[in-house]
Amino acid sequence: MKAKLIDGKAVSAKLRESLKQEVANLAEEGITPGLAVIIVGDDPASKVYVRNKEKACEELGIYSEKYELPAQTTQEELTELVKKLNQKPDIDGILVQLPLPKHLDEKAIIETISPSKDVDAFHAQNVGRIMIGDYKFLPCTPAGIMELIASTGIPVEGKECVVVGRSNIVGKPMAMLLLHQNGTVTICHSRTKNLAEVTKRADILVVAIGKAKFITADMVKEGAVVIDVGMNRDENGKLCGDVDFDAVCEVAGAITPVPGGVGPMTITMLMRNTITAAKG
Ligand code: GUN
Repeated sequence: MKAKLIDGKAVSAKLRESLKQEVANLAEEGITPGLAVIIVGDDPASKVYVRNKEKACEELGIYSEKYELPAQTTQEELTELVKKLNQKPDIDGILVQLPLPKHLDEKAIIETISPSKDVDAFHAQNVGRIMIGDYKFLPCTPAGIMELIASTGIPVEGKECVVVGRSNIVGKPMAMLLLHQNGTVTICHSRTKNLAEVTKRADILVVAIGKAKFITADMVKEGAVVIDVGMNRDENGKLCGDVDFDAVCEVAGAITPVPGGVGPMTITMLMRNTITAAKG
C-alpha cells in the first residue's frame, strides 16, 4: 500500500480532548452547552447516528435532550416542538435528524429552527453566511473534512480540488470551504461528462455520491489526497465507501478509510458547533 491512511478516529479523538477542555472552562463560567436532537420514525441508520451524538455529548460534558417521535408525527407537531426548543434557555443547539418521513416538509422544518441554534448549519441564513464567508457554524461533514485535510499537512491553497456530488449537506458547502482556503474547485455530478478526466486532475478529491466503490484507481491522480464520504454496503454486505479503497490506495498519496475516516469527524464538529452556540 502506497497511500498514507488519514485516521479520522485519531484526529477526532484529539479534537474531542480540546473540546472537553473547552466545556470544562465554560463550566467555570456557569455555562453548560445543551443540544436537543429530534428523530422522527425508526430508520435504523438514523437511530445509530442519534445514539452516537448522545454518547459524544456525555463524553464531553454537554447536556443533551433526545426527542423520539413516532413516524406519523404531523408537520404541526414537529414545528411546535422546534419552536418550543427555540425558546428553551438550556438548549443551545437543535438538530433534526434527516431524512424525515416523506409526509413532512423537511425544508420548512429546517427554516423553523432558530439560525442561532442551527448547529447543522442547514438554515438558509447560515448557508448564505457560509457563501459570503461570514459564518458562525459550518456544516459538520464538510467542516470535519477540512480538519482531515489539514491533518495531512498539505495546504489547499492553489490545489486542484474536485468534489464529486452536489448535495446541500456535503457537496455544495464542501466546495465553498475549499474555495475559502484558496483551492481551485470543480464540482462534478451525475451529468458530468468525462468524469474520470476531471477527477484525475484532482490534487484533492472529495467523493460524496453514495455509490459503492464508484471511484476506481484509473480516476485518481498519482499522490492525490482522497476523501471518501460514502457509507455503503458492498456485494458481501460489508461497509464500504464511494471509493474502491484497495485499488485507489496504490495510487493516492493519502486516503480516508470507511469506516474510520470522515464518519467520526462529523459528530465531533457537531459538538464544536454546540459549544460555539453556547458561547453566544
Ligand atoms: N442525516 C445525515 N447526515 C446528517 C447531518 O449531518 N445532520 C442531520 N440533521 N441529519 C443527517
